[in-house]
Amino acid sequence: MQFEELLKKYDVPVPRYTSYPTMPFWNTEPFTLNEWLFSVRKIFEETNSAKGISLYIHLPFCESLCTYCACNMRVTKNHKVEGKYLQAVIQEWQHYLELFNEPPVIRELHMGGGTPTFFSPENLNKLINGVLKFGKIHPQAEFSFEGHPNNTTKEHLQQLYELGFNRVSFGVQDLDRRVQKTINRIQPFENLERVTRQSRELGYQSISYDLVYGLPFQACETVENTVKQIITLKPDRLSFYSYAHVPWLRPGQRGYEDSDLPSDVMKRSLYETGRKLFLNAGYIDIGMDHFALPHDELAVAQQAGTLHRNFMGYTTTATNLLVGLGASAISDSYYGYAQNLKKVEEYEEKVFNGEWAVFKGHHQSKEDLFIKHCILEIACKGKLNTALLEQAMTETLFQELSVMQMEGIIALSEPGLEVTEHGRAFIRNVCSLFDKRMKTLPEKKLFSKAI
Ligand SMILES: C[S@@+](CC[C@H](N)C(=O)[O-])C[C@H]1O[C@@H](n2cnc3c(N)ncnc32)[C@H](O)[C@@H]1O
Ligand code: SF4
Repeated sequence: MQFEELLKKYDVPVPRYTSYPTMPFWNTEPFTLNEWLFSVRKIFEETNSAKGISLYIHLPFCESLCTYCACNMRVTKNHKVEGKYLQAVIQEWQHYLELFNEPPVIRELHMGGGTPTFFSPENLNKLINGVLKFGKIHPQAEFSFEGHPNNTTKEHLQQLYELGFNRVSFGVQDLDRRVQKTINRIQPFENLERVTRQSRELGYQSISYDLVYGLPFQACETVENTVKQIITLKPDRLSFYSYAHVPWLRPGQRGYEDSDLPSDVMKRSLYETGRKLFLNAGYIDIGMDHFALPHDELAVAQQAGTLHRNFMGYTTTATNLLVGLGASAISDSYYGYAQNLKKVEEYEEKVFNGEWAVFKGHHQSKEDLFIKHCILEIACKGKLNTALLEQAMTETLFQELSVMQMEGIIALSEPGLEVTEHGRAFIRNVCSLFDKRMKTLPEKKLFSKAI
């Protein structure tokens, strides 16, 4: 089957597997806070000294709304919100620290949003120092943040670099003027060029760009122009996200008509246009929306089979405990998941009352843990060994895998299952064959399409 035909066939709603089970299948009902806290304490004691832990800090504020945006964010121009919010985050972290029997070893720290660079460099300094002073920093710690090219100043980059941040990802989305105007995100190329140059001069090890395909008025030509321009800046990593159109959840997306969006066929062509240009420019397809230059640690880890995946996406650090701080942040204790309240005020109120801000979660069954392991092996290594494959095998799975083998997406042989180079674009679809919970779902509209 031609690659284009496969793109069409596998362009169905499937999760991105930053967790298993995926959120719609969390057993929030039997979930209890005490069990969640017990699981955090348990995994901390089992793995902190050997592997360290990961921290995610959600900073939700943005000065203006990019109408396409599906992130959990809050628009405000009032910077007075910074002080109260950072106090809440530090207080929430102190609450977690009470669970721990020793200082946490911070192996990974990521600040996402919203726009972390909405906060002033002074406040980011207070926040990060406030969090780090209670822990030990791992010698190979990876600190990263998301920056908006329009408001990331040299002072932000300098301050965060001094605090130990060595990776940054910048939101680009698209450089076409008409697309930018439609999504209310005017962002000149010069701004991207400036923040990239300044980050490199300061010594940041890895610079990543976020691009989105499927935005209103995008065409193959505009995507080609965008990609050709950004490639001249040689970002170490690229995320190429499929636009998620969810106007019932994000009314900002009603700022344009559905008819302004590319058709499914066009969207697949946009993806193919971008992907081809990335590969021609020497980027490696990491799988699930990510590309990296061969020298980047993400590509090196993929080759070495040491990639890991958690709520922050692909990562090179394999910890078992991820503590998510801030409104809407998600935590992963290996034995379970939990999410914080999404509204800033509700989150702050809970924390300042000395309560936990968690409002829903999931406890992993043995079967969940097994399936999660299989899915992560495929997503991160592109492989599943024979022993795991045999354990997972059912008649239906065998038939589905045989079809994918005929299509050249996977190879099945003595060492087990392997996703072929040609099959990398369909890695989400391969993972979904192992997802027992999704198979029980009659209506699959909960997830964005694979392409
Ligand atoms: C928190 S933002 C990045 C940091 C900063 N706020 C900025 O915009 O530059 C995270 C990323 O999510 C992606 N994103 C947001 N809304 C999306 C949507 N509707 N569909 C697909 N990707 C989306 C964008 O690529 C965006 O850069
Ligand atoms: S894309 Fe970034 S800056 Fe724009 S609204 Fe979303 S989080 Fe805020």
